[in-house]
Amino acid sequence: MVESGGCSAKISPKQLEEILKYLPLPKDPNILVDIDTQDDAGVYKVNDNLALVLTTDFFPPVCSDPYEFGQIAAANSISDVYAMGGDPVLALNIMMFPAAKLPMEAYAEILKGGFDKATEAGVRIIGGHTIDDFPPKYGLAVVGYIHPEKIITNAGAKPGDYLILTKPIGTGVIMAGQRLGMATDSDVTEAKYMMKLLNKSGAEVMKKYNIRGATDITGFGLAGHALKMAKASNVSMKISMEKVPLIGNVYNLVDEGCIPGASFRNLEFVEEHLLSAPSLDYNLKMIAFDAQTSGGLLMSISHDKVEEVLNDLNAAGLTFSSVIGTDSQTNDQYLRMDT
Ligand code: CO
Ligand code: CO
Ligand code: CO
Repeated sequence: MVESGGCSAKISPKQLEEILKYLPLPKDPNILVDIDTQDDAGVYKVNDNLALVLTTDFFPPVCSDPYEFGQIAAANSISDVYAMGGDPVLALNIMMFPAAKLPMEAYAEILKGGFDKATEAGVRIIGGHTIDDFPPKYGLAVVGYIHPEKIITNAGAKPGDYLILTKPIGTGVIMAGQRLGMATDSDVTEAKYMMKLLNKSGAEVMKKYNIRGATDITGFGLAGHALKMAKASNVSMKISMEKVPLIGNVYNLVDEGCIPGASFRNLEFVEEHLLSAPSLDYNLKMIAFDAQTSGGLLMSISHDKVEEVLNDLNAAGLTFSSVIGTDSQTNDQYLRMDT
């Protein structure tokens, strides 16, 4: 039904940044994280032991099965709480649905998918709101709990840190490839598996090792979210593109020209801060801009914790987790974000 489903449907990050500049920010000492650093969620301190993490995400279908769409949208909405080290607790449904164009069974299936994924995350959905609209869109507004001194932000990356990514990328390419009849069934199955996968266990590992810098990879692509993190943390970031785990045949699909429009919007956002290796492969470069739906966590962690963190991620079933950035200077497939 849609040209760009999932997080590919986001407004261009460049346009968004322009508009948000003029929006006055509320001033309150209890606001611990706001839009100023363009983080994954806002955080509001209730008392010395409790702060609330608030976030919302919704988007048009990224696949044709309504139940799976519901699961993916919910996993994606809840992810922003995990990315900040919070425990998601409550949520509200946000739904746009064309009641005259689609059977109400599809509506019920989307909600059921969202409910089941929320339940898996320990989140109780206690309400929602629907308007009649085409194409359908679905997501959640989520509330999580966090200790005010244990917030993980995109401003927490430090010079010398290593970067770990917990899910392979390429969901935008694969889902576009499916619409064009270019992606294989196994590509699509793997992409949907990744999009449905909660970032819960990755977040647990971050908390265990007291990691302070992280974000999740969604609509602005790996490079776009890395740049936001670099800016908020005031560091530069170098990603070794040959180390980035990819879903199925993503590389070949891009090689055959399957590059969604959202990738070019994301490239435009990062471009002026971008320094890529002269020998960087064009396909790998474009994959860095692929809009992810419900992507993995990007963690910035000190060198001495890398091995243990990777072991724990593996033990938690996140076997595709990889170190995608180190302090090494020798690498001819890098993409560097300078603030
Ligand atoms: Co996010
Ligand atoms: Co979000
Ligand atoms: Co209402």
